[in-house]
Amino acid sequence: MATEQNPPKRVTTRTLQTMRDRDEAITMLTAYDYPTAKLLDEAGVDMLLVGDSLAMVVQGHDTTLPVTMDQMIYHAEMVGRAAKRAMVVVDLPFPEGQIEITRSIEASARVLKETHCHAVKLEGGAEQAGRIEAIVTAGIPVMAHVGLRPQNIHVDGGYRLQRDTEKLVADAKAAESAGAFAVLIECVPTEVAAAITAAVKVPTIGIGAGRDVSGQVLVTHDIVGLTSGYTPKFTRQFADLGTALKEAATGYCQQVRDGGFPSDQESF
Ligand code: KIV
Repeated sequence: MATEQNPPKRVTTRTLQTMRDRDEAITMLTAYDYPTAKLLDEAGVDMLLVGDSLAMVVQGHDTTLPVTMDQMIYHAEMVGRAAKRAMVVVDLPFPEGQIEITRSIEASARVLKETHCHAVKLEGGAEQAGRIEAIVTAGIPVMAHVGLRPQNIHVDGGYRLQRDTEKLVADAKAAESAGAFAVLIECVPTEVAAAITAAVKVPTIGIGAGRDVSGQVLVTHDIVGLTSGYTPKFTRQFADLGTALKEAATGYCQQVRDGGFPSDQESF
């Protein structure tokens, strides 16, 4: 049994490759803070993603674009410290994965040096091959993100299903050849994700990409009911913490106003 003296065995790039080779489903969820990351890690999630989705679900922005590298580092440090078993991947926020390659290497190195996390994720495929190779050469594992690329929203004119099988397969193959240890596939039809998965040997992690991939990732706030407004078709709510939180706050306010809290037991 895993204890503080005997911590669980860390999930690594090799573990993930073995899981893909054995056809064992890989699980991944987003995390942005210590207590949530600790709970997800204890629940046995294989990979945690400090996603730039934190701009939307934590900071309340409309897109992922505003979050900065310093803010990513701040959140990643908490998640990395909490995770004892999961491999922790950190998004390179816009535009750290788009500008000079040396800046991407520096940003990725900050992730390994200043947080307790293990890899970075960057958006793009074939056009990012040189950048992926340079970051991996520097000793930093890279997960590529193909299909819908949220950082490209203003070029694409919105969030859309990506259907171009030939391009997406070429993107994933280029990322794999450049040294990416895994490919995240966002918002593509099931058969396109299946074609990508068949074309590469590294694990493929899908979000809105159907079942024929090596694993799944979702945004934690979506699955526990902490996002308000639009939720994408591909997510599923497994708990309603939003309602539970509101009920707890309502109960607390009522008891304070009624004089029911604090009681003698809760006083000195
Ligand atoms: O930032 C994020 O949450 C992502 C999702 C695709 C999982 O990249």
